[in-house]
Amino acid sequence: MLSRRHFLVAAGTGAAGLAAGGGAASFFERAHDPAGDATVPFYGPYQAGIATAAQDRLVFASFDLTLSTQAELRDLLRQWTAAAALMTGGEATGAVEGHPAVPPADTGEALGLSPAMLTVTFGFGPSLFARDGLGLAAGRPSALRPIGHLPGDLLDPARSDGDLCVQACANDPQVAFHAVRNLARIGRGAVVLRWTQLGFGRTSSTTSTQETARNLQGFKDGTNNLHGDDAKAMSRFVWVGDDEPQRWFRGGTYLVARRIRMLIETWDRTSLGDQEATIGRSKVTGAPLTGNREHDPVDLDLRGTRGHPVIPLDAHVRRAAPASNDGARILRRGYSFTDGIDPASGELDAGLFFICYQRDPHKQFAAIQGRLGANDALNEYIKHTGSGLFAVPPGTRRGGFIGEGLFT
Ligand code: HEM
Repeated sequence: MLSRRHFLVAAGTGAAGLAAGGGAASFFERAHDPAGDATVPFYGPYQAGIATAAQDRLVFASFDLTLSTQAELRDLLRQWTAAAALMTGGEATGAVEGHPAVPPADTGEALGLSPAMLTVTFGFGPSLFARDGLGLAAGRPSALRPIGHLPGDLLDPARSDGDLCVQACANDPQVAFHAVRNLARIGRGAVVLRWTQLGFGRTSSTTSTQETARNLQGFKDGTNNLHGDDAKAMSRFVWVGDDEPQRWFRGGTYLVARRIRMLIETWDRTSLGDQEATIGRSKVTGAPLTGNREHDPVDLDLRGTRGHPVIPLDAHVRRAAPASNDGARILRRGYSFTDGIDPASGELDAGLFFICYQRDPHKQFAAIQGRLGANDALNEYIKHTGSGLFAVPPGTRRGGFIGEGLFT
């Protein structure tokens, strides 16, 4: 059997490296890794990183195409798929040690790190299907129409949209960064980065066993989230079903990302009572104002002694609840972010990089956000500064590649 060092030398560069890496033993050293070998399977009917338990770190990247033909796009997706499968398994995308005269095929910063439950999830933006010369218009997923302006939007075009996206999540930030960096490296000449976002401290529990994490406002976030392990709810609200006219997209879903800045200094000057009335839940326990424990039901009809609703009419959990949105639900999978300070004000540029998944972004995310943007008490403390919508193709099997059905 090849030693790790020999494998690295033998694997060569570029595509040859990808091919050689497939059967070789993982090169990440596990001996010093108390987190163990945990990996999330890359292949399957759905892409990983959606229903699978949310990890602690995020690197999100949006790319624009510089390539111009379908064949080049197919090649890129084939190479990205192969690289993602290797990296999520804890392997390099190619040799780190090779010929001294050429750059290493893998950039090397994940050497010695565990797979850290890395998932790499790919999405296609509306602009991909509108590109002249690519000829993909006939394959556009039926709900992949741009989300228009929503109330309260202050979106920066430089932090919005894109032809392709990659959501890399892991329990180690360097493993997630390594994944995006190497995909960008492999894509050189075919794509350019448009914008990226780092995230930490997942803000949503996405399975029934995960404890609810806190967002940067200090509140538990994700209590009433959909759960990825609830197959019935996932089929109903997240996975695109057999009614989708684009057969290749069945088993896919839509990702909406929103960079939401929190006006943290204003929030920190707000009384506890007002903070809790804004959300509709208690800060420490996460219980709804109509209960005592986190998972007690949110009772939107309960009135207090003076006849006022206990959960205020403009509380976030009331405005976002399915009962206020024709039953619409979404799978939230966001992360906190901080990008230093806003030079104009000296205030923190930090908040929630909101990500959600659903089977129809217009009937779900946009319908809910349209109402939130108009009358959510939280609006006093947040600003939506970036936005992206992407169709996330179904998963693939060994030998296939993400988005393959679009080309057949
Ligand atoms: C910075 C912005 C936001 C913050 C700080 C925030 C925070 C919270 C918190 C603390 C909860 C209560 C716990 C829970 O059930 O998860 C919650 C619930 C929820 N939020 Fe947000 N949220 C934000 C933006 C959004 C956006 C943009 C949407 C969708 C358009 C959204 C949709 C929801 C939904 C659907 C619920 C569950 C409501 C229920 O059924 O009880 N949130 N959010």
